[in-house]
Amino acid sequence: MREKPSSVHIPVLGQEVVSLLGGRSDSLKASGLIVDATLGAGGHTALLLEALAGVRVLGTDQDPEILDLARKRLEPFGDRARCERARFSNLARLLRKLRCDRPIGWLMDVGVSSLQLDRPSRGFSFQADGPLDMRMDPARERTAADIVNTWNEEDLADLFFREGDEHRSRPIAAAIIKARQRVPFKRTAALADLIVETVGSGGRTHPGTKVFQALRREVNAEGDELIAGMDAAADCLAHGGVLAVITFHSGEDAVVKQYLAQGAKEGCWELLSKKGLSASREEIRSNPRSRSARVRAARRIRSDGESTDLGSLETTDTGETNFGSQGGQKP
Ligand SMILES: C[S@@+](CC[C@H](N)C(=O)[O-])C[C@H]1O[C@@H](n2cnc3c(N)ncnc32)[C@H](O)[C@@H]1O
Repeated sequence: MREKPSSVHIPVLGQEVVSLLGGRSDSLKASGLIVDATLGAGGHTALLLEALAGVRVLGTDQDPEILDLARKRLEPFGDRARCERARFSNLARLLRKLRCDRPIGWLMDVGVSSLQLDRPSRGFSFQADGPLDMRMDPARERTAADIVNTWNEEDLADLFFREGDEHRSRPIAAAIIKARQRVPFKRTAALADLIVETVGSGGRTHPGTKVFQALRREVNAEGDELIAGMDAAADCLAHGGVLAVITFHSGEDAVVKQYLAQGAKEGCWELLSKKGLSASREEIRSNPRSRSARVRAARRIRSDGESTDLGSLETTDTGETNFGSQGGQKP
């Protein structure tokens, strides 16, 4: 199967994200720094930079291959856009290291990008054969194959149920243990074929969908990273700055809802919508992937005692551009 390097990732809920992070009315013209913590191919960042002339965007992603694409796409915006490699769990540190101003907006569009899914060599797809990898950050040591070939039956079944909501997790785990005694799993097609053999091929979605989702979430520690990303936003955002989180399935949405509700109770966040926003009919028609997307947003409230300065790390690095108010501010 050939790679499809030209495939595009269409940003979901684009207009909603621009109004949430940019202020809803003309009288609230945004100016300052926005962090796009899931830069991907730069779709949301480009929309933000086009719509909000007074903002700069620090776009971050853990995937170096995707970052290269984003850098090219964002070149026309000059120094209003800066792209850096980082996981959510390293973001607060990165912002201090770059001596950034406190951001006025923070976007997380979590999950996998179509660009990652469409490249068989990345191993996310049950539809196209590739190495059973699934690492968004190639620096992570453990691949999906490591999990499938080494975990015991009970742990595999629990993972498929917990992270994929797969109700046939036990027969699938038993079949994996039996098959790997003959030949260890190396390729996505071998795992997808085994799942079809075990549970049949009926249904609207591919029978491997849930197991592949569970493995991807485990390989990339997606549950812990989502919390770490929201913690970093709480740590870094300016008073009145807005966090917007887009999720694609109900389990993740529930985590975001609970996190923000708890923060609102503690007086750190003001919720901007109770139920979150989902895609309009027109958007779903033009981009069916948006059907399951939901964005939740909240405004960071800093109490009088909290520092207004993000602080900086002592660093011996040279050549770092200041991305604070003196650096890169072009209308
Ligand atoms: C759905 S895509 C974002 C697409 C982007 N909003 C756009 O419009 O092009 C999600 C991106 O987030 C990145 N990502 C997911 N989890 C991450 C994490 N914990 N740290 C850093 N990047 C992450 C993925 O590598 C992927 O490129």
